[in-house]
Amino acid sequence: MVILGFCAYVFDSSACLIRDGQLIAACQEERFTRQKNTGDFPSHAIQYCLDEAGLTIADVDHVTFYWQPFLGLKERVWQILKGLPSSLNFWGSHSDKWLSMVFAKNELKKQFPGEHNFKFHNIRHHDAHAASTFLISPYHEANLIVMDGSGEIECTSMGFGKGEEIKLPYKINFPHSMGYLYVSVTHYLGFKPDSDEYKVMAMASMGQESEYYDLFKKVVRLEENGRYSFDLSYFNYPQGKRDPWVSDKFIKEFGSLRERPRDALVNQAPLEKRHHNIAWALQKRLEDVAYHMAGFLYEKNPCDTLILSGGSALNCFMNEKLKRHGPYKNVWTMSAPHDAGTRLGAAFYLYNSIMKKPRAFEYESAY
Ligand SMILES: [Fe+2]
Repeated sequence: MVILGFCAYVFDSSACLIRDGQLIAACQEERFTRQKNTGDFPSHAIQYCLDEAGLTIADVDHVTFYWQPFLGLKERVWQILKGLPSSLNFWGSHSDKWLSMVFAKNELKKQFPGEHNFKFHNIRHHDAHAASTFLISPYHEANLIVMDGSGEIECTSMGFGKGEEIKLPYKINFPHSMGYLYVSVTHYLGFKPDSDEYKVMAMASMGQESEYYDLFKKVVRLEENGRYSFDLSYFNYPQGKRDPWVSDKFIKEFGSLRERPRDALVNQAPLEKRHHNIAWALQKRLEDVAYHMAGFLYEKNPCDTLILSGGSALNCFMNEKLKRHGPYKNVWTMSAPHDAGTRLGAAFYLYNSIMKKPRAFEYESAY
């Protein structure tokens, strides 16, 4: 059985091909077009995967896509109605991507004409994330945390994996997103959002505890059952405004925004101690939330292994501290826990979790 998986239209477009549960090929579109993090349709990556397997599109039995565009639509429309008129910006910036996702199958057929025998499957985004790590991990039982910007509606999912089964019963929905919190502060500190978060993570190591940590405790509140919530008055992004992502209230309490120069020839304001301390406090609050969720899952299911996925799982400081903090013996993720990995997760989710085929592949390295 041949399954082609792909993700596209937001960023990190990618494709993979699995045959009888074995991974044959997986790659990101950016490696072919040299456009970092591109969200373009991954026609080069798909062609590469087919070539590696010595197949054509006519040989593909199933295609998986990492998103269910109609899931959570009611909630999104309700959010837009509540936030009118500024929320129209959100719809304006997302409608093209959403329509492309609805017609992803048609685009695949257009890009790869000829005989088509495949069945097309839309897989829920956080199921694809969780599967991208758990189902190819060396572990057959684990607690699972998915934390990213946002899936169809949920921003964080927590649950359990056993054998080929994944259950994510605990969800925290948009706009309460730890991924978007990190993106918002990345933009506030003068870096490129959805790209330079790793720089902010590195800056944190040069900061120290300060009054900003107390402020972040007000911004992100820990709640019962491993949950958290935001004081949304600190953000603009829930209303679709992303320049800046944070609100006037955030700027009043944390200090002035470090603007990114619009002109490449203009020097950006230098980084100050305050900026490093803000990065430190942000990182610490992310780790607080991660401990809180990991501890809650352990109470529910005291097992040895915690598996992380979603873009936030790229935060290696958080992962390392989770391992040191305990109570888990193993804290595991793979090399592409962000959206690029969902092309692989969606394919394995179909094969192992939906079709209930036993696991046949274990991830050892990205090469
Ligand atoms: Fe994601």
